[in-house]
Amino acid sequence: MPALPTSNYSSEVNEVSITSYSAIELYDSIESKDDIIYLDVRNEENHQLFMVEGPNDVEMYNIPYFDFMEDPEGCTAKLPEGRPVKVICAKEGSAQFVADILDSQGREEISWLEGGIVTWGNLLIPKRINSADEDYEIWQFNRPGKASCSYGLIHGEQMMLFDASRAVEFYVEFAASRGADIRHVLETHLQADYISGSPRIAAATGAEFHAHDGDYAVSVFDYTSIVDGELIHFKRDGGPSVLCTHAPGHTPGSTAYVVDEKYLISGDTVFIVSVGRPDLGKRVVEWAKQLYATLKQRITVLPDELIVLPGHYSDWRRESNEDYLILNDFGTVKKLNEDIYGIEGEDEFVEYMKENMREQPDIYNQIRKVNAGALSLREEEQDIMDLGKNECAASSNRGMQHI
Ligand SMILES: [Fe+2]
Repeated sequence: MPALPTSNYSSEVNEVSITSYSAIELYDSIESKDDIIYLDVRNEENHQLFMVEGPNDVEMYNIPYFDFMEDPEGCTAKLPEGRPVKVICAKEGSAQFVADILDSQGREEISWLEGGIVTWGNLLIPKRINSADEDYEIWQFNRPGKASCSYGLIHGEQMMLFDASRAVEFYVEFAASRGADIRHVLETHLQADYISGSPRIAAATGAEFHAHDGDYAVSVFDYTSIVDGELIHFKRDGGPSVLCTHAPGHTPGSTAYVVDEKYLISGDTVFIVSVGRPDLGKRVVEWAKQLYATLKQRITVLPDELIVLPGHYSDWRRESNEDYLILNDFGTVKKLNEDIYGIEGEDEFVEYMKENMREQPDIYNQIRKVNAGALSLREEEQDIMDLGKNECAASSNRGMQHI
């Protein structure tokens, strides 16, 4: 097989028609429903393992680059003519290579993804949740590659960050762009499906790291123990209150945060569709009982008007609003999940959870160790470990079968 071209490979046929695009531009194209063909040139196995998905349908073709090498004409003919093509690959070299082939075959408006699929996997989309005239800001950072969300709360020059991913630079720069410094990083639980950025953001910025002993007592990190019912304040007077609510079940230390009595940063306890699976610790009966008690005694007592801001989603179209924010009011969330919230009786709830469980990915154990500081890996290894969608929700008969 011929060697792959180097990263500075460029077309000599028609350089003007080949351009590159960033992961955020890729997201914008999907959100805007641009009339574009997406072409993933990784092999089928890697494509199936982790593919580009967004809030709208994506017309995606998967034709491996080595097929293009063997049959450039035949592979090009598989793509509809007359529309721009965005090429995606693992690292960017083979996408450039295929872009050149398409160009040499007479196709126009060809572009390749800068940095490859990892840049998509790490991409965060910031969207403000509350209106611009309020005296604080609350932001959702959607990570489409992981179908997960972190949150930022800004008051004056201070920012609190909830469930940060490891994109430290992004968060630091984002805070600066809003004229704030990150002062607190908080976890809703010890994550199993992605590598948390909270410890390293705390180390880089001097922010206080808050976590619950139920999950973090085994970790090597210095953190401030979260106390059920405590209020975390911004350092100056004023600003929204942040009430910590212990919500065990998905994990023993799971914590939800009620912000300004308006928003529920629910971690993996409450999703817009489904609830957090209680089997990740391999003690499904014990944890399902905890989850049942949490939902009945601590969650369903909350007001219906609270806006649920979850840690994950599985179906963007079903779980987002018209602005592509993943949120809904708690009253609607309960209605959407009547099959779960309507269960009366611990035994029945445990049975429901057991019936809906499935294998967790092997990598979750490794990710937990990284998140507890018990395993350190090179950045490239973490990049690979951190790719792929989450599997944190309990399956439901109401549309969660695919996760
Ligand atoms: Fe989780």
